[in-house]
Amino acid sequence: MIPLIRGFKDILPDETPVWKAIEDTAIAIFQSFGFREIRLPIVEKAELFQRSIGENTDIVEKEMYTFPGSRGEMITLRPEATASVVRAYIQQQLYARDPVQKLYTIGPMFRRERPQKGRYRQFYQISAEVFGIDAPYIDAQLIVLAWTLLERLGVTGLSVQLNSLGCPACRPAFKRALADMLAAGTGGLCADCLRRKDKNPLRVLDCKVPACREVMKDAPSMTDYLCEDCARHFSKVQSSLIRQQIPFVLNPRLVRGLDYYTRTAFEIQTDALGAQNAIAGGGRYDGLVKALDGPEQPAIGFAIGLDRLVELVSQTMPQKPFSPDIFIAAMGEEIQEKAFDWSCALGLAGIKTETDFSGKSLKALMKRADRVGAEHVLIAGSQELEAGVLVLRNMNTKEQVPVPIDGMVNHIKQYLKDYQ
Ligand code: HAM
Repeated sequence: MIPLIRGFKDILPDETPVWKAIEDTAIAIFQSFGFREIRLPIVEKAELFQRSIGENTDIVEKEMYTFPGSRGEMITLRPEATASVVRAYIQQQLYARDPVQKLYTIGPMFRRERPQKGRYRQFYQISAEVFGIDAPYIDAQLIVLAWTLLERLGVTGLSVQLNSLGCPACRPAFKRALADMLAAGTGGLCADCLRRKDKNPLRVLDCKVPACREVMKDAPSMTDYLCEDCARHFSKVQSSLIRQQIPFVLNPRLVRGLDYYTRTAFEIQTDALGAQNAIAGGGRYDGLVKALDGPEQPAIGFAIGLDRLVELVSQTMPQKPFSPDIFIAAMGEEIQEKAFDWSCALGLAGIKTETDFSGKSLKALMKRADRVGAEHVLIAGSQELEAGVLVLRNMNTKEQVPVPIDGMVNHIKQYLKDYQ
């Protein structure tokens, strides 16, 4: 047996209904808020991620799956969707028809992180991106949307962590203040942070290592450095969340692991998943469209980690086992062709049907019907075939009714209707 690769996983048939239920709930909410779906390739030029996520981020430095393409260019399995959505917005000129675009996409992402519970090398995200809207109301609305989705799925123990990362006008002063503080003394920082502190000092702020947290506990806060516009914007995001009764916590340490953010940054965390507690994360990236050679358009978005959400939801969502409405138990070789016709007819009529073409004994067939959780068994032996009437057995009540072969699909449809 060749096993799957570490950090990757199979999503088995017993698990897929929860995935599907979450996706359906998300899609319904996206549609109510005016979003449309976009589907994108899972590979892009490496440069797209280097220029958007940032050269000095963990993702670009060490987590991307990158390989040479046939023309020598470097190709990367996407570690997130935002860069690709921005690329499509620019390349397909979605802005030409209307600069305001609200898009969602669902699919796999790839990061070569150290695998652990809740952290995979192929994981799935539901992402939402909005282009062309500056107003803080859209920031708040995206948080309302993500919160609503989690609430509708019955997830509890959530908190929204909120911060503002400022803009190119106000962030440099904050970065300087942070760099000055780090230059004054860095005893106790972890090896990663010692490396980060010069290249990307903001990342030192949200390092989870306790010693780094201790060093950074008196670090300056971006919110103290916001320019007037950013401060007003951030204050409106907060008051809008309060209007919608979304509880949030201001977290000056929240900087997020991707470099494209400006202004609003947020994460939705849970207390139920252990170390990997971020269920969703997002924020504004007002400069990214321009930086990737597009028009000057503001943008904001978020992504929900589907794997982690599935884990949470599976704990509470009732699991309905897959059970066929009808199990055709056809005894003997000679009836199999008939069983084939009936199973096609029932399946085409939209009746969940399972057929055993082994031609085994009734006892063996009933055992299998039981194992697959069939609601009813359609029993067909040579006697029934001769009489032109099959037997339909209700596996719960053990009641048996005759079903004429002539017009069988309609008889069964009617029976199932009456039964429900
Ligand atoms: P992110 O914070 O890197 O943001 O990822 C969003 C979510 O994806 C995380 O909160 C987590 O639930 C899930 N996630 C990330 N890495 C893993 C992993 N290795 N295994 C399992 N789940 C994981 C982004 O990706 C941004 N593109 C979000 C965004 C959209 N910002 C603006 N627009």
